[in-house]
Amino acid sequence: MNILVTGGAGYIGSHVCVELLRSGHQVVVLDDLSNAEASVIGRIEQISGAAVVFVEADLRDRAVLRQLFAAHAIDAVIHFAGLKAVGESVAEPLRYYDVNVYGSIVLFEEMAAAGVKQLIFSSSATVYGDPDQVPIDESAPLRTTNPYGASKLMIENILRDVVKADPSWQVALLRYFNPVGAHESGLIGENPRGIPNNLLPFIAQVAEGRRARLAVFGNDYPTVDGTGMRDYIHVVDLALGHVKALERLQRDGSLLTCNLGTGAATSVLQMVDAFARASGRPIPYDILPRRPGDIAVCYAATTLADTELGWKAERGIDQMCADAWRWQSSFLA
Ligand code: NAD
Ligand code: WQD
Repeated sequence: MNILVTGGAGYIGSHVCVELLRSGHQVVVLDDLSNAEASVIGRIEQISGAAVVFVEADLRDRAVLRQLFAAHAIDAVIHFAGLKAVGESVAEPLRYYDVNVYGSIVLFEEMAAAGVKQLIFSSSATVYGDPDQVPIDESAPLRTTNPYGASKLMIENILRDVVKADPSWQVALLRYFNPVGAHESGLIGENPRGIPNNLLPFIAQVAEGRRARLAVFGNDYPTVDGTGMRDYIHVVDLALGHVKALERLQRDGSLLTCNLGTGAATSVLQMVDAFARASGRPIPYDILPRRPGDIAVCYAATTLADTELGWKAERGIDQMCADAWRWQSSFLA
């Protein structure tokens, strides 16, 4: 198939491009490089041994999208492009709704105009807010606590309405838990600009010596060691889940809403230990107060991914840390 990957130069998108190409698909990437480097495209090609068509443009540029759909016979779209920093979304809500929600509407309108109705959308476990119970299954109540999360839930709601109005749309809403790690080649991975918001890139920079100490946000949660627990998933497992979701849409085009997680939770201090082992470096840390808006524990129910996609995450915490460290210590150092 010929797949349009919006945000395909980004962290998750680049790994998905590799797995699509390795599965024999063709890929057109649309990315404005607001949070990615142009050289990622060459590295995707190097890993996969296949060529990528790259269009540098903003998702909201309707004329470019129209031209893109006219020039390439696109069969399906995987939509990653957007903004993802929770704190920034609280400070700049209009920018978040503009890029994420308006940008998605322009994309869906141009897809419809071109007769392309097969779509995988990057949603997030953030749509569950502070869950009533764990593991979280897909029928759990949806509620969000910040504009980023609200933008994800709005796009999910828009797509549910689109499918209702026109059942010939074939849509998968994939709710990612906490993607981490990097490609085992060491050629692609996460490269946050400025101070990392997320735990693993921060730990990796402490291990490298770029930052002195990790701040652990709270050790008074009701968890194994008092620190927050999350369902960290290797980005390559996540990418393979997208290939499976594409296959699912081919054999059954009905609306799919599915968690992509491992079903296990790891604490901050467990992650610190695992990274210290993988890197052979100490990770000095201080305990700070809780980060506002954080929840204690979050992990996925994985039954639906198993039955609907025939997919399970296979890579564990040690491999996530080893691959993140290879990327940090070789490519980013
Ligand atoms: P990322 O920032 O690495 O990738 C997003 C890509 O979109 C970047 O390459 C960026 O340059 C591009 N982009 C941003 N605005 C654009 C625009 N207006 N037009 C065209 N391109 C634009 O982020 P990621 O971690 O790879 O996340 C990909 C998707 O997955 C996002 O939609 C994100 O909300 C979602 N998601 C991410 C996580 C996570 O923890 N990383 C978790 C759940 C969901
Ligand atoms: C994980 C744990 C922190 C940094 C966020 C978004 C979510 C999703 C994934 C996109 C928590 C602790 C962190 C640090 C720490 N993104 N921590 N020190 O908060 O689960 O999810 O990214 O959809 O929407 O909210 O991930 O990596 O920020 O935090 O102690 O410097 O690590 O308190 O317990 P989170 P995270």
